[in-house]
Amino acid sequence: MEQLLSSMMRVTMENAGASKCVLLLTKDKSLDLIVTAISTSSKSEFIKTTFPSVRLNDCEDIPISVINIVKRKGKIFVADDAREITTLAADRYILREQPQSLLCMPIIHQGKMLGIFYLENNFITALFTQQRLEVLKLLITQAAIALENAKLYQNLAEVNQSLEESNHSLEEKVEVRTQELNKKNQILNQVIEDLQNTQTQLIQSEKMSSLGQMVAGIAHEINNPINFIHGNISHASSYIQDLIDLISLYQKEDFSTPEIEEKLEEIDLDFLLTDLPKILESMAIGSSRIRNIVLSLRNFSRLDESEMKAVDIHEGIDNTLMILQHRLKAKSDRPEIEVIKEYQSLPEINCYAGQLNQVFMNILSNAIDALDDAFASGKWSKDKPIIRISTELVDCNGSSNLVIKIADNASGIPEEIRRKIFDPFFTTKAVGSGTGLGLSISYQIVVDKHKGKLTCNSKSEEGTEFVILIPNL
Ligand SMILES: Nc1ncnc2c1ncn2[C@@H]1O[C@H](COP(=O)(O)OP(=O)(O)O)[C@@H](O)[C@H]1O
Ligand SMILES: [Mg+2]
Repeated sequence: MEQLLSSMMRVTMENAGASKCVLLLTKDKSLDLIVTAISTSSKSEFIKTTFPSVRLNDCEDIPISVINIVKRKGKIFVADDAREITTLAADRYILREQPQSLLCMPIIHQGKMLGIFYLENNFITALFTQQRLEVLKLLITQAAIALENAKLYQNLAEVNQSLEESNHSLEEKVEVRTQELNKKNQILNQVIEDLQNTQTQLIQSEKMSSLGQMVAGIAHEINNPINFIHGNISHASSYIQDLIDLISLYQKEDFSTPEIEEKLEEIDLDFLLTDLPKILESMAIGSSRIRNIVLSLRNFSRLDESEMKAVDIHEGIDNTLMILQHRLKAKSDRPEIEVIKEYQSLPEINCYAGQLNQVFMNILSNAIDALDDAFASGKWSKDKPIIRISTELVDCNGSSNLVIKIADNASGIPEEIRRKIFDPFFTTKAVGSGTGLGLSISYQIVVDKHKGKLTCNSKSEEGTEFVILIPNL
């Protein structure tokens, strides 16, 4: 814009032979005139233009009275010698600068006054002849059009810029909003994860509590009759021993009848007498095994699991092993799993006993699964399947911790799977045989409930070791 103005001013000055040229433009819609550009030529060829941009009344560089006349009348004002016009005699500028030829012309475009052109020459009188005036009018009409265009262009540029600015701020807003949304998304994801965890826990605790109640009920029902049998077996065997003694006494006396002879033959008395005590003995063993199982079941399903209690951890592990007994036994495709216990003597440990039993159960059954798998895949090359369980108290930073290690010598867990084993629903087992919940629940029980640690060490092909750490408070 300034470039356009200065060249416009220069051309006008050169054409008119003026020594000074001032351009005033109306500001916006108000009719206030702003002194926009002042060009002066001290020596010819050298025109200097400044852009003061001050209001007419604040400007010392022009005859304000002349401008006001033109503004009011909307017509050209020409003076051959300003010093001689009485109406201007009081004008401070005229008094001071003593201009001679003077021309002041409104710039009108499409009926609107855009501004005013002021020209003067203080060396020559009667400079602005009619001929010059015509040329100047033409020039100024062109200038008006150029000015209007420039203004439009400037407006456009301003609009563009403000558009760009609002675009920019919109982008910023979008950015901020996106970040906010991302944050909210993260929170939401966390909430979903928490919900999933709670759900898993709920499902499992629901399952466990109904299973626990059922097991406890059955154990209780079996407990009475089995005590009955177990308690009476010793009586029964002593009675039978008495009867056997009595029969041998009878046999010493010699009063056999054909009927007795026949019966003796039929029942094979000698065999019966040797076999009967054996039968009774195995019945005694069987019944005491049943009693143990019932006891384990009752311990295992402990209905007090909502409370922390001081318990014998070894009892919990042994009960779990008892329940898993049938799975440890030899099968058609694998020998019996040897369980090696390395128990250190432990005090009673304060914990949620029922839940810890659940952890032992999950880890031990996974170990058995892994050993079964190793044999089923036909790749077994070790001596025999082993599960090693060790317990110890370990002092760490002044507090004592119970450490239980459960290790198997199956095929181990590859690194990429090991990273996921504690995830809920992660399983490598066939549909229907694995739920993928065992370890995630165990993790929650050990880490969340007991504030402990559950870690897994595994060397491929060597086996897997789970380490449970429970703070002993
Ligand atoms: N002792 C182990 N040896 C090899 N893999 C194991 C062992 N324990 C756990 N895993 C792996 O961890 C996965 C998750 O175990 P878990 O959460 O108990 O679910 P599930 O037993 O139902 O598959 C198992 O599918 C298995 O791939
Ligand atoms: Mg499992």
